[in-house]
Amino acid sequence: MARISTATIREKKIKNEKITMLTAYDYSLASMVDEAGIDMILVGDSLGMVVLGYENTLSVTMDDMVHHTKAVVRGAKNAMVVADMPFLSYHISVTEAVRNAGRLIQEGGAQAVKLEGGEERLPVVKAILEAEIPIVGHIGLTPQSVNQFGGFKVQGKDIETARKLIRDAKLLEEAGVFAIVLEGVPSALAEKITASLSIPTIGIGAGKYCDGQVLVINDTLGMFKGHIPKFVKKFTNLEPLIVDALKAYKNEVEAGTFPGPEHGFTIKDDVLEKLY
Ligand code: KIV
Repeated sequence: MARISTATIREKKIKNEKITMLTAYDYSLASMVDEAGIDMILVGDSLGMVVLGYENTLSVTMDDMVHHTKAVVRGAKNAMVVADMPFLSYHISVTEAVRNAGRLIQEGGAQAVKLEGGEERLPVVKAILEAEIPIVGHIGLTPQSVNQFGGFKVQGKDIETARKLIRDAKLLEEAGVFAIVLEGVPSALAEKITASLSIPTIGIGAGKYCDGQVLVINDTLGMFKGHIPKFVKKFTNLEPLIVDALKAYKNEVEAGTFPGPEHGFTIKDDVLEKLY
C-alpha cells in the first residue's frame, strides 16, 4: 500500500470520505496507529504536555520535534506524517521558518508540517510552500496563543472572531495549504467553514461536520492524567490497566515469583561445574 499523500487527503473530501488523524510521538504507538489504518499521524507539539509534562506547548523546541518525528516516521509505513512547527520556530523570520520546516522534512522525515495562525502567518505559509513543503493550517483555539487568549477558550463565538476564522480559512486555502485543523470552534461555524472550502477541514472540538477528525492519542486511549477537554472521547481507558499491570510486576518481583524458569537462560551442567 502506498503512503497516504496530500492528493489522497484532498480526494477524500471530493469523495465525501471522512479523514482520520491521531497524534503519536514515538515508534511503538506510531506503528499501532499505522496498523489501525489511520490516514494521518500528527507529531503534535501536544508532546510538550502529554509526553514531556509541561503545562502547555510553549516550551517545545525544534530539536524535540525533530527527535520525536524521526521516531514516528520509523513506525509509520502508510500514514502521512505531519510534524508540528513549535512556538517561535516560524515567528521570528521567514527564512528561519523555511529552515525549520525544512528540518522537519529533511531530518525528521515528515511529509508535511502544521503551523498555527491565519492571515498574520501568510508570508511564512507562502515561503514554506515555495520550498515545496506541504502545510496543514491550524486555526481556532490555537494552543500556542494560550497567553494571548487568556486560557484555552473556544474561539469564534462572537461575530468578529467568527468572521476572522472564515476569512483566515479562505486565505490559507488560497495560499495553498492542503488541509486546515479547526480546533475549539462552535460546530455550526466549523460546518460553515468546511462548506466554504475545497480543501478538507480536520476538526478537534469542532463538531461532526468537519471533513475529518483529530485527537491527541493519550486522551483517546485514556493514558493522560491531566485536564481532559470536553471534546475528547476516551475510546478506551488504559491508565488503570497500566497501573494494575505495574503493581502486579512490583508484587511478583518483591515476592520472588518473577522471573520464573521460563524467563531465564540455561547453561550446561558441565560448564557450570568447571566454574567451581
Ligand atoms: O499538538 C497537537 O496535538 C495539535 C492537535 C491538538 C491538533 O495541534
